Amino acid sequence: MASITIRNLDEAAKQALRERAARNGRSMEEEARVLLGAAAGVAPVMDAGPTTLAAADYPARGKRVLLIISGGIAAYKSLDLIRRLRERGVGVRAVMTAAAQRFVTPLAVGAIAGGEVFTDLFDRAAEHDIGHIRLAREADLVVVAPATADLIARMAHGLADDLATAILLATARPVLVAPAMNPAMWRHPATRRNVATLERDGVRLVGPATGEMAESGEAGTGRMAEPLDIVAAVGALLGSAPGPLAGLSAVVTSGPTHEPIDPVRYIANRSSGRQGHAIAAALAAAGARVTLVAGPVTLADPAGVATVHVETARQMQAAVEAALPVDIAVMVAAVADWRTQAEAGQKIKKAAGEGPPVLALTENPDILRSVGHHARRPRLVIGFAAETEQLAAHARAKLKRKGADWIVANDVSPQTGIMGGTRNRVHLVTATGVEDWPEMDKHDVARALIARIASHFGRTVPEARPGA
Ligand code: CTP
Repeated sequence: MASITIRNLDEAAKQALRERAARNGRSMEEEARVLLGAAAGVAPVMDAGPTTLAAADYPARGKRVLLIISGGIAAYKSLDLIRRLRERGVGVRAVMTAAAQRFVTPLAVGAIAGGEVFTDLFDRAAEHDIGHIRLAREADLVVVAPATADLIARMAHGLADDLATAILLATARPVLVAPAMNPAMWRHPATRRNVATLERDGVRLVGPATGEMAESGEAGTGRMAEPLDIVAAVGALLGSAPGPLAGLSAVVTSGPTHEPIDPVRYIANRSSGRQGHAIAAALAAAGARVTLVAGPVTLADPAGVATVHVETARQMQAAVEAALPVDIAVMVAAVADWRTQAEAGQKIKKAAGEGPPVLALTENPDILRSVGHHARRPRLVIGFAAETEQLAAHARAKLKRKGADWIVANDVSPQTGIMGGTRNRVHLVTATGVEDWPEMDKHDVARALIARIASHFGRTVPEARPGA
């Protein structure tokens, strides 16, 4: 690729470019190339966002991924996936099905992947040059993202009528599939059968996630896992170097709890589970053996983590008990403090003239407190504190009351947008003091916390400072 020289730009533009480049971890020339690509309509502008794992300690660094992109609307996310993998030192070769090319162009994919994109089984030049068998062999991992219902069906039946399926049939490498489809297609018995066949064949899955679909008004399970979740799954599959937490085990709680009032109503809160899930993923990526006890959330299970799904506080407590003993407990869940004294067996009806029912509440078990005072207490117990006022004072009181070693306190006043949002500003409260961390993405908070956990256990980590 020809080089770009940044001359004759006025100082303000140069400064803006310099700042953009620094923010995105690119050189100024690279940043200019991305912007020019976008202006020419070749590739979208993609700002480097937060990373789940520091590029330097990404376990799959130096490995080669063959990425197969099939034809779904989520194909645009593959561009971000390629960039995230490449910035972590993973070589990416891309293959696109005919349908994928209706959603993103091979030119855009090639520009981001930094090389030729393979599209045709019968392209004589490409077959002569490299060939589908070599493509299948010259990778450490084959990733299919997005994997449409159609491609999954063809894989399950061993078809090989295009380049993508021919490679998938020829490869002896591990295969990771990120399904993406309409929820009705994901639920269909045929897809269920095909996915079960792939799993029996040893194919690994990441996602799909639950939530809003690209089609307006559609929601359910079928959305492709986020690029960073796929990056974590690739790291978990290809990682060879033991992480800084290798040999340690952890239990993490995440998300809200739902406390039933009657068969159709429940008490809940605004927790999304993003912070807890990010911590579980980061612990696993650092080599710990992790059990995640998740309340009702719409997030995909993190890769490499044993996830137990629960609804109520009491179920969450039982699942945490079952996970003990562990070395580390990180209790992030926004557990409902109260549940109804008795769940009504039938839907509570509006009886004429009687007014609203009175809900008698009773206290839920305090899971953090029971772990903090447990006979098999983990060596490091970390709680979170959701506060709307007097953050440090309340957090210090919680530290004592709950028997925790650290409390990660955050301000969840509505104006902060933290509860349910993607960013967090936390304060680490320990027996010796309070540290104020800068506002960061929840994945970066997780990474900084994992660095602190590692140094607590005397493990060396490349970066022990939050926000570093
Ligand atoms: N927690 C828990 N079980 C509960 C309530 C809270 O394990 N029944 C844990 C949370 O996971 C978190 C910590 O305790 O790690 C603090 O949660 P928070 O909601 O901030 O505190 P509460 O104990 O509920 O106190 P309060 O509502 O009075 O602030």
